Amino acid sequence: MTDVVLVTEELAAPAIGMLTADFEVRKVDGADRPALLAALAGADAVIVRSVTRIDAEALAAAGRLRVVARAGVGLDNVDVPAATARGVLVVNAPTSNIVSAAEQAVALTLAVARHTAAASAALRAGSWRRSAFTGVEVHGKTVGVVGLGRIGVLFAQRMAAFGVRLIAYDPYVQPARAAQLGVRLVSLDELLRESDFISVHLPRTPETLGLIGEKELAEVKPGVRIVNAARGGLVDERALAEALADGRVAGAGLDVFETEPLTSSPLFAFENVVVTPHLGASTVEAQDKAGLAVAESVRLALRGEFVPDA
Ligand code: MLT
Repeated sequence: MTDVVLVTEELAAPAIGMLTADFEVRKVDGADRPALLAALAGADAVIVRSVTRIDAEALAAAGRLRVVARAGVGLDNVDVPAATARGVLVVNAPTSNIVSAAEQAVALTLAVARHTAAASAALRAGSWRRSAFTGVEVHGKTVGVVGLGRIGVLFAQRMAAFGVRLIAYDPYVQPARAAQLGVRLVSLDELLRESDFISVHLPRTPETLGLIGEKELAEVKPGVRIVNAARGGLVDERALAEALADGRVAGAGLDVFETEPLTSSPLFAFENVVVTPHLGASTVEAQDKAGLAVAESVRLALRGEFVPDA
């Protein structure tokens, strides 16, 4: 009997092509919970991105499942301990989209500094407003990177080209390593007090959820601009909206949200907030890399072969 690979979100065409050569590929909308649970019952492997929740309930519905593959970096939507307890292998593609994610954070930083999205929307609506959209340079500013992992490092390296002063908060990174990158390690408090721009690059875990909340936003340098292209909830959305309303935060670039998909939010009301629908990994290059990496891992796992780290 041919093994069934269930694909629950958009996956690059070359990856689908590779899988169809060996397996029956079925598709379902991972956001449609009843349809997902029904489809999981017949799946030997499932490939997800960030919307599909593979939790204990989903695993219980998936009696034949042997592999959960995440076509991307984060595993926050997969209950890894529950999968492991059932003997289900979990694989991801940890480096597939790190460049794309870092570039998205740079793009949001510049877009927030220069009001790109609001000015574009105003002009399309027939309004040629120049002074209303006067921005700031990033050159000479202090950029605080929260989380100096793979993506944080790539973001910092790219921002260095703009002539910024780089500081970072990451308790797991050695000061010497940061110094090599031209980054000064500081406490979170210092980072909040000193940064003109803050960009967050952390996974979503119980420790990082709400890391930048009401208390932290009360400590920021007035006029700071905040970017989150990592995971929703790391910056508390309600507290951010309050800080934007009272002007303490001068702008924000948000690619991710506490709950996704999301089509309305109090944050959308602010002209100085740029929002995108979780597009950090949505480039042709990243999707090809992520798709092919997990397709290969799924192929090896379903054949009972060793699956090396992607
Ligand atoms: C990731 O964790 O790699 C991304 O969020 C993937 C995605 O865009 O689904």
